[in-house]
Amino acid sequence: MSDLKTYLAQRIQFVDAALDRMIPTAETRPVTIHKAMRHSIFAGGKRLRPILCLAAAEACGGSPESALFNAAAVECLHTYSLIHDDLPCMDNDDLRRGVPTCHKVYGDAMALLAGDALQALAFELVAKTQQAVRYTTGAMVLELARTAGSLHLVGGQVADLEGEGQKLPLEDLRYIHESKTAALLTTSVKLGAMAADAQPEELQALHDFGMATGHAFQIIDDILDVTQTTEKLGKSAGKDVASEKSTYPALIGLEASRDEAHKLTEAAHRALDVFGPRAERLRQLADHLLQRDY
Ligand code: IPE
Ligand code: IPE
Ligand code: MG
Ligand code: MG
Ligand code: MG
Repeated sequence: MSDLKTYLAQRIQFVDAALDRMIPTAETRPVTIHKAMRHSIFAGGKRLRPILCLAAAEACGGSPESALFNAAAVECLHTYSLIHDDLPCMDNDDLRRGVPTCHKVYGDAMALLAGDALQALAFELVAKTQQAVRYTTGAMVLELARTAGSLHLVGGQVADLEGEGQKLPLEDLRYIHESKTAALLTTSVKLGAMAADAQPEELQALHDFGMATGHAFQIIDDILDVTQTTEKLGKSAGKDVASEKSTYPALIGLEASRDEAHKLTEAAHRALDVFGPRAERLRQLADHLLQRDY
């Protein structure tokens, strides 16, 4: 097994090449929207969701190629959510992935539409995934649709915005983190597993893994917002305090937040027990997400 750094670099290249093929070129009419979509997609980004998707497919005995449409899809859906999250009517951020946000470069209307188009493209890509014995392509579309909608990602964003200026109970913050972030991380691994025709118990294990890792991931995001610089993050640091968001550090402090992220990562590891050594890459990725500094 190659070391994690090499693996991540190779996977980013693999995913980026796929996205480049799957998103209309910047010369495609109307060029403004395709430029705007590509601006946000190719600004950088850690590509964690597609990488998790591919790693989950492999843990279930599938090839990375079999899950590639699904991997590209979750990155498109994620990038749409970031473009909209940054809009002035939401978090109002000027910087994303180290470059000016989509609306700063292309205007609010075009950023809104770039997000819309990336979300539609995400579903188109899942619909292109070959069905497996246990999972129809429709079941995969359903998996992404549920996660993207008002019961999960959108619902989490609603509760996040409505919670501004309030000190929410920890239970409500947990709901926000699970909905706005953990749900899509979970769907990322599940879409990899479904493309690889996972056994039902493997799919359940990956669900538990995704929820624990995803929750830890958002806690770390909250921590980095108060401990890192804008340069390091590639997005404006200190925004959560400025917007009076309820976050883990705001509610329970930095130390307790770090402890909670550790505990969730341990739970993520336990969830992978059914895989034995086949899930080694997923274990490494969970640790990497916990230790990341941007
Ligand atoms: C940022 O996600 C938004 C959250 C859900 C915390 P990432 O930290 O994965 O952002 P990119 O894709 O690397 O830009
Ligand atoms: C964003 O959470 C989650 C989604 C985009 C769904 P944040 O608002 O904390 O993400 P950042 O910090 O802007 O990346
Ligand atoms: Mg937000
Ligand atoms: Mg934000
Ligand atoms: Mg944040």
